[in-house]
Amino acid sequence: MQGSASLTVQSLPLCLGLWIPAQRTPESAALGSGQQRGDGSSVGRGLLGLAVMGPPPRFSPHLAWRRILCIFFLPFISSGFAPRIKYTDKFIFGKEPLTSSKPRASTVPFFPAVRFNWSHLTPLELKDRSVGLQAEEGVGRNPYFTLEGHEFLIFGGSIHYFRVPREYWRDRLLKLRACGFNTVTTYVPWNLHEPESGKFDFSGNLDLEAFVLLAAEVGLWVILRPGPYVCSELDLGGLPSRLLQDPTTQLRTTNRTFVEAVDKYFDHLIARVVPLQYRKGGPIIAVQVENEYGSFNKDKNYMPYLHKALLERGVVELLLTSDNTNKVLNGHIKGVLATINMNSFRADTFEQLFKVQKNKPILIMEYWVGWFDTWGKRHTPTDAGDVENTVTEFIQLDISFNVYMFHGGTNFGFMNGGIHFTHYRAVITSYDYDAVLTEAGDYTDKYFKLRKLFQSVFVTPLPLLPKPTHKAVYPSMRLSLYLPLWDVLQYLNRPVVSRTPLNMENLPIHGGNGQAFGLVLYEATICSGGRLHVEARDAAQVFLNETSLGILADETQNVDVPTITECQLLRILVENQGRVNFSWKIQDQRKVFPWRTSLSTPWK
Ligand SMILES: *[C@@H]1O[C@H](CO)[C@@H](O)[C@H](O)[C@H]1NC(C)=O
Ligand SMILES: *[C@@H]1O[C@H](CO)[C@@H](O)[C@H](O)[C@H]1NC(C)=O
Ligand SMILES: *[C@@H]1O[C@H](CO)[C@@H](O)[C@H](O)[C@H]1NC(C)=O
Ligand SMILES: *[C@@H]1O[C@H](CO)[C@@H](O)[C@H](O)[C@H]1NC(C)=O
Repeated sequence: MQGSASLTVQSLPLCLGLWIPAQRTPESAALGSGQQRGDGSSVGRGLLGLAVMGPPPRFSPHLAWRRILCIFFLPFISSGFAPRIKYTDKFIFGKEPLTSSKPRASTVPFFPAVRFNWSHLTPLELKDRSVGLQAEEGVGRNPYFTLEGHEFLIFGGSIHYFRVPREYWRDRLLKLRACGFNTVTTYVPWNLHEPESGKFDFSGNLDLEAFVLLAAEVGLWVILRPGPYVCSELDLGGLPSRLLQDPTTQLRTTNRTFVEAVDKYFDHLIARVVPLQYRKGGPIIAVQVENEYGSFNKDKNYMPYLHKALLERGVVELLLTSDNTNKVLNGHIKGVLATINMNSFRADTFEQLFKVQKNKPILIMEYWVGWFDTWGKRHTPTDAGDVENTVTEFIQLDISFNVYMFHGGTNFGFMNGGIHFTHYRAVITSYDYDAVLTEAGDYTDKYFKLRKLFQSVFVTPLPLLPKPTHKAVYPSMRLSLYLPLWDVLQYLNRPVVSRTPLNMENLPIHGGNGQAFGLVLYEATICSGGRLHVEARDAAQVFLNETSLGILADETQNVDVPTITECQLLRILVENQGRVNFSWKIQDQRKVFPWRTSLSTPWK
């Protein structure tokens, strides 16, 4: 900024988000994109939601395409007991020949030759513990996992405790167990647990230990994915935004500023995790190192650094990495089990995995049964029959898996991230994900299909289904009173005055940690008009005093300020819609004011 104009920056607390008209309320998230799903507040859905979702059209062109693919692979898959799927230099042995050369109709139950009896392999039953989860080699058979020496497959499902109200944790975990899963997996969001440097929050809905212990109580093992970067479609992939204060800090590298912050966080976090491990009597059977680093891959020393960081702090259970199928070569660490993420079988699904790891059991760490939604994009559901078929394939091929998401939940507050390939798009409030349970925790077609399948492979009966949660309909109400933003300002924290505009991460507030989420109002006095050029991230409303002049967003960077006769207040309300969660772009997610002003008349 030129001249002597002083700039007031008013930082708005999160609650103001409620006031901002129809920009990002959960309701508009659900309705705006024409989806029939709700957030936590969309009550009265209950079983109705199920009915509305109904069976997907069986012969959509999309499905037909899948079926053709499926038919293409079936000769490989269904050729009997002998080596069945030949992927590059490695065979996977199947358990059971398929009886038909047509894709299996999803109604035909599948019975493996040997049914599983894992009734003694739960955290409740298994008291004598000396060896945890182990990856064993197979001779003349597939490699396999053992737990305390017993052969075992991981039937995992993801539930993020921070996306589910704590009051519902037990219900969701019971439903996971009743479906036939034996393991719950969760990310751990650094930005929520350490909102200010050195100030940790593991209370209430962030009580990680309570969630893990509850899982054990319900009879589930836990695979923990502590990051530090987790992606998870969270703001900045779960990294605290204060790490963006210094532009020389390189996130997800061994840059000293970054790893020092990681070390401090891990000192605190891992100390909490260590006593919850299998060998200490807890349910944690495996811990993941970082997340999909192969897709980022900027520093070859980074993953070994984190590997060591976990070991040094007392993590003794099985360690694993998780990568997209074509990024395993970049993402794996020597001596750590590599796992992959996928949504359907392809010819090259195991190509890279087998290059880095021969003779180890296969774990699909993320089997995507749905996908997240972004603003402005249509919601595309996944067919429940496809999910059932793929999971059947996993079981037949001795492949362990983790369903992502079993229950997605909600991006509460401003925790959502954004994506940026060609355009920036914010992730919506709902994290329904078209998961196995709906956002409201209700059963779906996928749930019943998977439960039936799982029941058919166990000798012991599954637990009874928990009752659907109670739903109520709130009466409609009319808002009769409101408070304009301008009247609220006097009640907010004192404005920060600065000669140059500061991005929200660098506001000298919250003990020097800046502002992580929400909105910032910038004000400057101007005494003439002209063109205002601002690359606002992610969007901004421009006002002259209280009169709206326009909106700045991705492609609109100019707003014309009319000729004025007396000095007026230029106000720019900048909204952080969620930092991108992926790719090198995370380095550049400061929100915003790169204020490249070219108001043709200089500022006074
Ligand atoms: C399953 O295994 C447990 C413990 O090993 C055993 O007591 C039980 O009888 C088995 N159940 C069946 C149905 O085989
Ligand atoms: C990494 O961290 C150091 C020390 O904190 C810092 O001085 C340096 O500029 C950072 N960035 C790069 C790119 O090395
Ligand atoms: C955020 O993460 C997901 C993967 O979980 C990815 O598909 C999405 O594109 C990411 N956002 C980007 C690239 O900005
Ligand atoms: C705009 O705001 C300035 C500063 O508060 C005030 O002096 C001026 O009277 C206002 N002008 C109008 C047209 O409201």
